Amino acid sequence: MNEPLLAVRDLEYVYPGGVAALRGLDLRIEQGRKLAILGSNGSGKTTLLLHLNGLCKPTRGEIRLEGQPVSYDHRALNDWRRRVGLILQEPDDQLFAATVSQDVSFGPLNLGLSNADARERVREALEALRILHLADRATHTLSFGQKKRVAIAGVLAMRPEILVLDEPTAGLDSHGVTHLLGALEQLHEAGATLVFSTHDVELAYAWADDVAVFHDGVVLRQGETVAMLSDRELLRRARLRCPLLLEVAEALGVEVSAASPFRSREALLVLLQERCAGQG
Ligand SMILES: Nc1ncnc2c1ncn2[C@@H]1O[C@H](COP(=O)(O)OP(=O)(O)O)[C@@H](O)[C@H]1O
Ligand SMILES: [Mg+2]
Repeated sequence: MNEPLLAVRDLEYVYPGGVAALRGLDLRIEQGRKLAILGSNGSGKTTLLLHLNGLCKPTRGEIRLEGQPVSYDHRALNDWRRRVGLILQEPDDQLFAATVSQDVSFGPLNLGLSNADARERVREALEALRILHLADRATHTLSFGQKKRVAIAGVLAMRPEILVLDEPTAGLDSHGVTHLLGALEQLHEAGATLVFSTHDVELAYAWADDVAVFHDGVVLRQGETVAMLSDRELLRRARLRCPLLLEVAEALGVEVSAASPFRSREALLVLLQERCAGQG
C-alpha cells in the first residue's frame, strides 16, 4: 500500500495533570480525500488535531509526513505547518490582527513573500471563501460565521496541502453551514485534502469520503463512509447514532453504497414520494 500523505501510529497523549486523552491510536490521511474524525464530545478529537500540525507533541507514538517521521525543531515545524493548516474550533482563538486583510496576510508575509505577492494570496483566499467584501473590516466587528471564514482564509493563504478543521460547522446556522461546505468543496475539487472533526453523524454521512470512528482516545475503525456508518456495532461502541438518511434508505429497502444516489436527501425524498404515490 502507498504511504499516506500523513500517518499517525500508536499515538498517545497525556495532558500535564494526567488525563490520557489519546490512548495509542492509528490514523491515515490519504491525499485528495475528505476524512471525518467522528466521535462524541470529550473523545479526544481536538487533542488529536493539535498533533496533526505539531502544536502538541505526542507522549508516545509516531507521525509521518509522506513517509518521513516528523521532527519538532523550528524549521521542520514551520515547513510542517505550511503544508498542514489547522483551523481551530473557536475563530477568536485564531484571529489576532485588527483587520481581515491584515490577519490573512500574516502567514504569507511570514513566509517571506513580497507585499504584492502577499496581497495576491489574501485576495485569492478571501475569494475562495467568498468574503472578499470583508477585506477591510475590523475583525472584532464580524459575526461568528464571518470570523470562521476569515480564520479559514488565513490558513488557506499559506496554500497548505492538508486543511484540518476542528468542528467546522459548530455554531453556524444552516445557511452558514451550506456556505462553508460549498467553499470547502471547491477547495477540495481544486486538490486540497480535507480532515475535519465532528460529533455530527449526519454531516459525516453527507460529506465525508472516509470516516475514522473515534472513541475514548482511540480510532475504533477507519474506512469508507457508508461502510463505517452502516456498522451498527461500531456505532454502538462509539456511542453514536446511525445517520437518519441511511436509516430511511434502509427502511425503504434501498441498497446504499459509496456512489449510490440514495445517499442524498433529494434522491431519497423523490423515492419516498414515488413510493407514496404508488400506494395512493
Ligand atoms: N488542556 C487540557 N488539560 C487537561 N485535559 C484536557 C485538556 N484539554 C482536553 N482535556 C481532556 O482530554 C479529553 C479529550 O478532550 P478533547 O480532545 O477536547 O475532546 P473532543 O474534542 O473530542 O471533545 C477530555 O477528557 C478532556 O477533558
Ligand atoms: Mg473538540
